[in-house]
Amino acid sequence: MTTKMDVISGSEINIKIGDATICYDDFGTSEIPIIFIHGFPFNKETWQPQVEFLRARHRVIAYDIRGFGKSTSGKEESSIGLFADDLIDFMDALQIKKAIVCGLSMGGYILLNAAHRYPERFEVLVLCDTQCNPDTAEGREKRFDSIKKIEAEGLGDYADASVKNLFCKNTFDTNKKLVSDIHETILTTSPSAISATLSALANRSDTCPILSEISLMTLIICGKEDVITPPAKAEILNTGIKNSSLVIIEEAGHLSNLEQVDEFNHALGKFITKTLNRF
Ligand code: MLT
Repeated sequence: MTTKMDVISGSEINIKIGDATICYDDFGTSEIPIIFIHGFPFNKETWQPQVEFLRARHRVIAYDIRGFGKSTSGKEESSIGLFADDLIDFMDALQIKKAIVCGLSMGGYILLNAAHRYPERFEVLVLCDTQCNPDTAEGREKRFDSIKKIEAEGLGDYADASVKNLFCKNTFDTNKKLVSDIHETILTTSPSAISATLSALANRSDTCPILSEISLMTLIICGKEDVITPPAKAEILNTGIKNSSLVIIEEAGHLSNLEQVDEFNHALGKFITKTLNRF
């Protein structure tokens, strides 16, 4: 039996997207694929419980954003816009006209950016533990301080500090394997990709003004104890997007899909069924 963070070997495919090589998993078949975009600084393996849950009945794709997991960085300057372009180019390369796309945190920033510019490429949206708000001046300052520290000392302190904010108390108490797996994921990510993406995150634009233009049916999911993108941020998304619904997951922090797999999968599965029943 595989655990939450085990890698399913033998399934990975590499594809050239712009100046990067993107590594992805592609399981199952269905007319409308479901694509997962991970958060920062993680990789596609963080979607494994959802991939496992859906792959018997749907085509499910999870990819590593450039610089993360097994994808290369390329040479272009990182930005949320570039990551969103990669998503669309990736869909083009796989000849996917329209997909159900689910993004967590930075994955949600990328999805909001892409859905605003290319709404016709999305069947519905799933926005998890994310927000439309840009960084505050203080938040930007913190990111630039982290870049300096990572350049001088490496990732050790950064990984230790990051993990402290990612989970709710219950996860720290009862799922030490998940906490240490995620800590390890951060430590083994390329420091230059982390620094480049910290800068991209600091420079991202405010997407709150575009929420009223989104007419796609949208599911918003948020861990009740998420301290990075708290439920108040999810409420802003829910109020701004007209055709949306919000599910708050108890006993979960920022990585709600890994902390409460069953509740998360239940909400996601119900939404996908509702989406597909429209046809
Ligand atoms: C993420 O999980 O993607 C990050 O926490 C996003 C952020 O730092 O804004």
